[in-house]
Amino acid sequence: MQLVDELQREHDLIDAVGGALLAHLAAPPGTRRAADTAAFLRFFRAYAGDFHHAREEDILFVALQERAGLPGDRGPIATMLADHRRMAGLLDRVAALQDEPDDEAGRARLREPATAYVHALWHHIDAENSVLFPECAPRLARNGVKELPSRAMTPEESSARAEGEELLARFPPSPRDQIVRGDGCIMCPAFGETCRGLEHEWWNEWEWDELDDRMAGG
Ligand SMILES: [Fe+2]
Ligand SMILES: [Fe+2]
Repeated sequence: MQLVDELQREHDLIDAVGGALLAHLAAPPGTRRAADTAAFLRFFRAYAGDFHHAREEDILFVALQERAGLPGDRGPIATMLADHRRMAGLLDRVAALQDEPDDEAGRARLREPATAYVHALWHHIDAENSVLFPECAPRLARNGVKELPSRAMTPEESSARAEGEELLARFPPSPRDQIVRGDGCIMCPAFGETCRGLEHEWWNEWEWDELDDRMAGG
């Protein structure tokens, strides 16, 4: 499904620019250019938010609910929507601190919400790539939906994307930062709270039967 393929490809850049933001904030205090921080914010708000998250919410998640009958008020969709909202809130906190003086204390204040944002973003991308996205096309196809519409970037979204690519070239992510990555449902903060995991939320009777058969058949 083309939209899902597009969204998954967009994750690669968004994920990498997250690492670039951490690299930008790991440079010695006093060296940060506020214009770079502002460019990171434009990338995450306009490209990751207005373009990427919005197409997930307005097209993919709507189709999963309306065409595939999946719940939107709990389970994986509710979890992904809550993540989008939480990440937007963290970006607002970064934006509120972007003009702080770049001394030790100012940098530490800025790094706190920025790091929380990047870690939330990585976790979210992993959950979508490993748990949610692989389930979308087969579930929609079963309900007769083979393709979903997408849309082109607006000029603002496109220029934010170009800025992200340029920032990534200048601030190469450190592999060390990747150590925090979790995997799938197990590391998700919603697991056991508002979501019992994809299988319990979405699987139907015959999917469970099939699992039983597989287990019984060895
Ligand atoms: Fe998302
Ligand atoms: Fe996504």
